[in-house]
Amino acid sequence: MKVLLIAGARPNFMKIAPIYRTSLKHNQIQCMIVHTGQHYDYEMSEAFFEDLELPKPDFFLEAGSGSHAVQTAKIMVAFEELCGKERPDLIIVVGDVNSTLACSVVAKKLLIKVAHVEAGLRSFDITMPEEINRMVTDAISDYFFVTEESGIANLIQEGKARDRIHFVGNVMIDNLFHQVGKLDGDRPNSFSTSEIKEKLGDYAFLTLHRPSNVDTKSAIREITDALNVIADKMPILFPVHPRTRKMMDKFNLNLSRNIHLFPPLSFKEALFLWKDAKVVMTDSGGLQEETTALSVPCVTIRENTERPITVNMGTNILAGTKRESILKAFTEAVANPNHQAEVPPKWDGKAAERIWKILLTPDL
Ligand code: UD1
Repeated sequence: MKVLLIAGARPNFMKIAPIYRTSLKHNQIQCMIVHTGQHYDYEMSEAFFEDLELPKPDFFLEAGSGSHAVQTAKIMVAFEELCGKERPDLIIVVGDVNSTLACSVVAKKLLIKVAHVEAGLRSFDITMPEEINRMVTDAISDYFFVTEESGIANLIQEGKARDRIHFVGNVMIDNLFHQVGKLDGDRPNSFSTSEIKEKLGDYAFLTLHRPSNVDTKSAIREITDALNVIADKMPILFPVHPRTRKMMDKFNLNLSRNIHLFPPLSFKEALFLWKDAKVVMTDSGGLQEETTALSVPCVTIRENTERPITVNMGTNILAGTKRESILKAFTEAVANPNHQAEVPPKWDGKAAERIWKILLTPDL
């Protein structure tokens, strides 16, 4: 079985790592990695391949940044050409980024089967580009690999056949458990942030990059006002995404000196920091899940989440995006860190195994 495994943006790399690694155990599978080039800076891309023990991609499409239409179109043109040459039996797409949508549409029109890993998640917020990417990809996928039960319900609601929906668990968590194991073997002072971590003791860890949170001055001001208040009580470690960096410069924002800024960190270094944080504050999808898996309190700076299991079972508190609601959620998370900390079903490090088992079963 010849498979093209697609990745383009930073959160994709964590998801393809366990899928690729597990493919090597099955000699009937020829799994090749396609990097679309959606993310390209060393810190946003290559650093992750090194950290996650991924080989260099077999194919690099060099799409780069641009408007959604430009980026999606560039990926589609390059991927169509690649599919023509390679003629895969199947492509695997993960998550909800522009690369996910672009490659699934191209493959399906060439009558190549599409497997979507992390299918069925819905924020029901159509203003999010990721929600459009999820809906389009799920509209045409052949295999739906689902991380949580809400995904099954959403897909059935949209008319998908039950026998194409497979509740396999979460490859993001496969990767997390693998990396936590490796991190424990590393020397604790081997990162550039080791010293500040040691010095601060108690700290919050922050990531922020959603367009709805950072692209307008009013939205980002509302959030940074809250963060400045929080920083008076607890220092904040903040690796800054390139989009956010641009916006912070553009709007000339004032941040408390207790908010410590870093360039984007490698997967392992970020994990080294957030796993021991008093609280993680984020608008990322992946971190909502990863904090739940390690029972680290999480405040999600968004109005909605496509990952409701992290709120219903895990450590996640949906804070909204207003100054007062963020402050309230932070206080709640710190006051009551153990109020709820169950790990969702099948988040056990074996999702990639389940995916390949299903793909290797004839007639499924
Ligand atoms: C993308 C995904 C988002 C994901 C995020 C993780 C879509 C629609 N969005 O958003 O779901 O959560 O990645 O990071 O697919 N840039 C660089 N260097 C890079 C990459 C980007 O400087 O290596 C800058 C560019 O100026 C670009 C901006 O960051 O314009 C945004 O990048 P883009 O890939 O368009 O979207 P993200 O915000 O990263």
